[in-house]
Amino acid sequence: MSQFFVLEGVEGAGKGTVLAGLIERFRAEGVDLVVSREPGGTPMAEEIRHVLLAARDEPVAPDTELLLMFASRAQHLDRLIRPALAAGQTLLLDRFTDASYAYQGVGRGLGAERVEQLEALVQGDLRPDCVLVLDLDPEIGLARIHHNGRATDRMDGETLDFYRRVRAGYQARVAAAPQRYRLIDASGTPDQVLDAAWSALSEFRQ
Ligand code: TMP
Repeated sequence: MSQFFVLEGVEGAGKGTVLAGLIERFRAEGVDLVVSREPGGTPMAEEIRHVLLAARDEPVAPDTELLLMFASRAQHLDRLIRPALAAGQTLLLDRFTDASYAYQGVGRGLGAERVEQLEALVQGDLRPDCVLVLDLDPEIGLARIHHNGRATDRMDGETLDFYRRVRAGYQARVAAAPQRYRLIDASGTPDQVLDAAWSALSEFRQ
């Protein structure tokens, strides 16, 4: 039976570490797991990711950003997501459409309706079975990123206010559909956060 799980969170919330831990636990159980990310996930969608995230002098219009996110998603859905689900595999995505609601809808101020329209166009009624949102004060998240000296992309250069809106955007998504979402406190140790994410996911596994 196919299942569709997504991991989300603001910059520096520890998504990479949790993802690696979840993959290890799924594989230890012998689950037929497909892991992918957005924007990206196919060769062409990864090219779109590069266009989206490259630092550039030309300001990027919020609509351009939104449309490119969904162009990447349309390709990913056609070439990887739908085939994996049709083959009965378990899919674990590093970000999906909730990131568009949080970053473009709320962070950039485009509003949810624009995102909803593209979601309907590109996804039809396909939705993840469960979305885990790693929740952390962005001030702490950004400090972690800078402390680790991680390479910055265009989206890493935003203001603290932007990331605060993004966090609020994610929290609102969780609150609006608590049956499909779980907010995970990402302020603890990596092991604590991974355990919390795994047990939340376990509620949804079949
Ligand atoms: P990553 O750093 O988690 O790989 O994500 C890349 C960036 O893209 C991150 O800043 C979040 C952003 N993003 C959006 O703004 N909208 C989207 O729909 C997606 C999937 C990602």
